[in-house]
Amino acid sequence: MAKIRLENGLTLTDLPSITATLAPLGIQLHHWPIGENAELRSLLAQESLDGSEKETVLTGLDHYFQRLQASDGYKNRDLIVLNPNVPNLDALLAKFDKIHSHADNEIRYIVDGEGVFGFVLPDESQVELTIEPEEYINVPAGTEHWFVLTKSRRIKAVRYFIGTDGWVPEYTGREIRVQPVAA
Ligand code: LAC
Ligand code: NI
Repeated sequence: MAKIRLENGLTLTDLPSITATLAPLGIQLHHWPIGENAELRSLLAQESLDGSEKETVLTGLDHYFQRLQASDGYKNRDLIVLNPNVPNLDALLAKFDKIHSHADNEIRYIVDGEGVFGFVLPDESQVELTIEPEEYINVPAGTEHWFVLTKSRRIKAVRYFIGTDGWVPEYTGREIRVQPVAA
């Protein structure tokens, strides 16, 4: 389950409190079940996936993509798989561990592992949200955020895109004040 650590040290673990904390930013967090498909489950348990295995995972979860296509015109999806065996993992992560925003919404559906999103609340305090499998997050366009992995350095997430342009972070230059959460 997701948890959010506030800058005053308090950690909230119940979904209603977490969503209420993030609501002023327009961030949506939902529980999206993965289901009982055995092939899908066993692929998600693998460390690495080749292209056709990734496509099998995506196809098994495409009922969620179809929902986003119908409601908001989403056009593309891919599966990002990060773990310590990925070449250039640190270089990939270095793009996102500074405060940035995007011109489009950032929609991620976590299907394995975990990750940490940092946000700046309207009172300028900084919070860290740990998200876990079966959690969907929509970070609206223009929202300042950052992203790091936990100590396990493992995540699989479906990314949904409206556009076909690359995924470009726009750095806002704001400093991160909070210490990374422990895994
Ligand atoms: C991104 C996340 C990781 O921009 O912030 O893809
Ligand atoms: Ni981002």
